[in-house]
Amino acid sequence: MGLDLEAIRSDFPILSRTMDGGRPLVYLDNAATTQKPKQVIEAMNSYYENSNSNVHRAVHTLAGEATEGYETARTEIAAFFGSPRDHLIFTSGTTEAINLVAYGWARANLSKGDVIVTTEMEHHADIVPWQILSKERGIEIRYIPLERDTLTLDMEAFEIAVTEASLVCVVHTSNVLGVRNDVERIIELSKSTGNDGEGAFVMIDAAQAAPHERINFVELGCDFLALSSHKMGGPTGIGALLVKPEIMASMDPFISGGDMIETVTLEGSTFQKGPQKFEAGTPRIAEAFGWHAAINWLSLLDMKEVHEHVSNLAKHTAAEMSKIPGIKIYGRHDLDTCSGVVSFLHEKIHAEDLAHLLDSGGFAVRTGHHCAQPLMEALGVASTARISFWLYNTQAEAESFIEYLTDIVERFS
Ligand SMILES: Cc1ncc(COP(=O)(O)O)c(C=O)c1O
Repeated sequence: MGLDLEAIRSDFPILSRTMDGGRPLVYLDNAATTQKPKQVIEAMNSYYENSNSNVHRAVHTLAGEATEGYETARTEIAAFFGSPRDHLIFTSGTTEAINLVAYGWARANLSKGDVIVTTEMEHHADIVPWQILSKERGIEIRYIPLERDTLTLDMEAFEIAVTEASLVCVVHTSNVLGVRNDVERIIELSKSTGNDGEGAFVMIDAAQAAPHERINFVELGCDFLALSSHKMGGPTGIGALLVKPEIMASMDPFISGGDMIETVTLEGSTFQKGPQKFEAGTPRIAEAFGWHAAINWLSLLDMKEVHEHVSNLAKHTAAEMSKIPGIKIYGRHDLDTCSGVVSFLHEKIHAEDLAHLLDSGGFAVRTGHHCAQPLMEALGVASTARISFWLYNTQAEAESFIEYLTDIVERFS
């Protein structure tokens, strides 16, 4: 049937904004953060207007409503990712989720001589925590390279490296290349041949996948799944780490204090057992309401259609852009699994200048290293310009972008 783009767009107040010069906003920076439907904004407003209170403590009505809303959000968000509620730890986003694996699980379970296998196409959020850990504990990191001609992971190198891995950390879908890794095979190989056949633990960074692909954590079979709400229509400031409970039990608290304890005496403390052990202090209550509303909103759509839509927009736009003289595309857009991300450069016009010129036409695009400097190095560039589509972008927006970019290139090169 396809997505009803008119109905979808009418839920996003910001999309009717007119930019300086009277041109409509064409928001193409969705890989950085998506816009929010009014249902999310209303859910957060309603929480603040009607139920604002702290959770898990007082017995008054507002505290009951806040707690009920926060914990229902946990149940429903976990269910959206195919998991029971006791698998979901709220974090500030993917970055904190991966740090929770590094500080909470890896420090308690890995030691000198252990090997972490990750890849050259990771976001810094999935590189820096491991480098700090490596320096502190003498743990070795092995990076799986990209095949330079296909811009996909060198799976032969992975098959060899994984046999010695205690932990495998891989991005599900690249925020630069649009490439979706074969995470099912990566998990299967990690479990069957990792760690000398004993099986390696696997952490998947799903920040760029969850906005357009329905992920079932339990069926996927990894041990940790890191997520950000703000890349899938929800508010900033909240995300999650999904963890199997038996693994959660082997994790130390990362941040400690109120709400995560059972008892505290001057001699010592005991901790809560489930996700609450990792949610010290006042949590992101309004954000949980907002993310829940985003999940409810997304649940009304067929995620296969969402994926097809963003992937087709990227495929078409990349193909047309590559016909513009001097434009070079970085990434793969010919595969049906690819996301809505297209990175590019012009041989003469600096990416930053391109972004400013596009901005004056109402097009919001991103430039920089996209928190993936090792990948930039592998591509032989310092930065790229990047457009990224989400479910509300239209074919007409893609065409007007191609036309405007063509015009810029004709005028300035
Ligand atoms: C692949 C990937 N991983 C991790 C992150 C970090 O997400 P957050 O900033 O929401 O913690 C991003 C954000 O761009 C990303 O694209």
